[in-house]
Amino acid sequence: MSLLEARDLSIEYLTRDGNLKAVENVSFSLGFHETLGLVGESGCGKSTIGLSLLRILPINARMKGKILYKEKDIAILPEEEIRSLRGKEISMIFQDPMTSLDPIMRIKNQFFETFRAHFQKMKEEEMIKISSDVLKSIGIDPSRLENYPFEFSGGMRQRVMIALAIVLNPSLLIADEPTTSLDVVVQLQIMEVLKELKDKRNMSMVLITHDLGLVAEIVDKVGIMYAGNLVEFGDVNSIYENPLHPYTRLLLISIPNVKLEDMELKYIKGNLPSLKSPPAGCKFHPRCPFVMDVCTKEDPPTFEINERKVKCWLYEGEHDESKSETNIG
Ligand SMILES: Nc1ncnc2c1ncn2[C@@H]1O[C@H](COP(=O)(O)OP(=O)(O)OP(=O)(O)O)[C@@H](O)[C@H]1O
Ligand code: SF4
Ligand SMILES: [Mg+2]
Repeated sequence: MSLLEARDLSIEYLTRDGNLKAVENVSFSLGFHETLGLVGESGCGKSTIGLSLLRILPINARMKGKILYKEKDIAILPEEEIRSLRGKEISMIFQDPMTSLDPIMRIKNQFFETFRAHFQKMKEEEMIKISSDVLKSIGIDPSRLENYPFEFSGGMRQRVMIALAIVLNPSLLIADEPTTSLDVVVQLQIMEVLKELKDKRNMSMVLITHDLGLVAEIVDKVGIMYAGNLVEFGDVNSIYENPLHPYTRLLLISIPNVKLEDMELKYIKGNLPSLKSPPAGCKFHPRCPFVMDVCTKEDPPTFEINERKVKCWLYEGEHDESKSETNIG
């Protein structure tokens, strides 16, 4: 049994000037104590997937497909049950820490609120004890429980966010761009904190990022997203050693020290297409150096090759017939 499995997940946003397909037919799975990196450019649908896992999408979102968490479908779970999962079983660190921390509340009280959402009768001493321990475990002195968010540096604020997210010992932590607004040194420190959590607490994680290099040492699996599709999915080492999708190659080439023979890819230009009126066929075709006639007309299916899944016509005929056309994207 997987801890988490997304099956044919599609999410649209209804807007005044048309529907926007933020996520299209995405499928992936995550085992117990595994970490998945969801990687892609800005606007490709990463946060939308993150929010859907907790069923906290904006009101104009429409979702299809299944999200199985320990075999329960989050998409159709009664509100009461999903509320009891949030924070306790599945927890999230949001892209912007300042929007999730209450600026006029001492950190201590923000911990208390988290506890009380699930354990109304918990005593204050116990809440302080657990909060202090978790703060200590990620390098913050427990005396800081008395402080307000503005009294912390950006990096420490992010640590507080992480502490709040893990204080109830969830099985799954979703971290959406946990280091975006931080400088490089602090970014690495936060990544180290997440790595320790993974090792010591045996937590599963979904790490959302645009920076494949930053998460490579932490994640076990990688999902590469492009314009709402999951274009490649597999084990992190095999993707690093032998990226299959042309877009994955582009992402890897942009990481210093990763050497790939096909250097012409370095010069790919262009932007993510509009998700309201995407190009016909493969959405990557206007930027792809390997584009073929079929790519401009038909959306490629997802082929499975040696445990790897890749949504690209280049691999037609190479896939394992017994497992043909799995739906990763
Ligand atoms: N509430 C909304 N209404 C309409 N469109 C939205 C809404 N939220 C997100 N979008 C659009 O959906 C697409 C996917 O957005 P999403 O935030 O999931 O991308 P992302 O990959 O997380 O990007 P980033 O790296 O910038 O955080 C984008 O085109 C975005 O503009
Ligand atoms: S399907 Fe065609 S255009 Fe799309 S990534 Fe593959 S080769 Fe490039
Ligand atoms: Mg985002």
